Formats: sequence, C-alpha cells, structure tokens
Amino acid sequence: MEQNSWGWSDRLSLSFEPMDDTHKEFVELCAALSEDNPATFVARLDALIVHSIAHFEQENQWMAETAFPPAGCHRQEHDAVLEVMQEVRRRVELGEADLATRLAEELPLWFEHHVDTMDNMLARFMASNPEKLADVAVTTAVNAAQSQPA
Ligand SMILES: [Fe+2]
Ligand SMILES: [Fe+2]
Repeated sequence: MEQNSWGWSDRLSLSFEPMDDTHKEFVELCAALSEDNPATFVARLDALIVHSIAHFEQENQWMAETAFPPAGCHRQEHDAVLEVMQEVRRRVELGEADLATRLAEELPLWFEHHVDTMDNMLARFMASNPEKLADVAVTTAVNAAQSQPA
C-alpha cells in the first residue's frame, strides 16, 4: 500500500538538472505501474520501457563522452533492468499477473539504489569534469547546476 505514495522527492535529486528531469519522468511512469488496473498494465509498462531505453541511452552517451571509468558496470545495470521489464511484459501477457505487482513493488527499490550509486557517481563525475562533455547544452547545464546553491 505504501507503494501508491511513492513519487519524486528531493531525496532523489542529484543536483544535475538534465538527469533530474529524466528521473522525474521515470518516477512518474514507474509509480503508475502500481495502479490497480490489470487491463492497462502492459500499456503502462510499455511507456516505461520506451522512456527507459532513451533514459539509459542518454546516460550511456554521457559516460562515453566523459570516459567515465565504471561505465561498463553502469551500462550493465541498465541492460539488466530493461531485460527484466521486457521479460515481465512477456510473462504478464502469458497470464502471470502476479509479476506485474512484483515489478511495481521492486522497481522503485531498484531505482533508488541505482540513483544513490551509479547515477550519483556519474552526476558528480560530470559536474567535476564539464570540459570533457562534447555536448555544449549539457556543459551549460552542468555549469548552471554547479552555480546553484545546494
Ligand atoms: Fe538514470
Ligand atoms: Fe543510470
């Protein structure tokens, strides 16, 4: 039941706006998985999968541009969770409805842990190495994030 109240909070902010904005969208789509409406579960999961593919690709690109040292490990976490989402989607369609509830319960825990560890390290690395970023818009955003009071 606590699941229904899960949502964005400052606790999830990494003070890096482009990443926080993407994470707010993830949280919204992920929280929507706990809606009690089995008929629309797969459509809600599809929306999260589409978001996650773009979200993870963006981070993977930032890691490539900045030569982020633990990129392999971070990328693996993205690939693994996407695989879980796709596997749950397949099995829910085959009738394993209980997996929908389990995914809705476990994904917020996965995300909080991922933000605290992998994404946190990447955000800090990017903030301290803005010169490594090829994307000017992102570099500007990093500078803006750095000049903001914590
Ligand atoms: Fe992320
Ligand atoms: Fe990530």
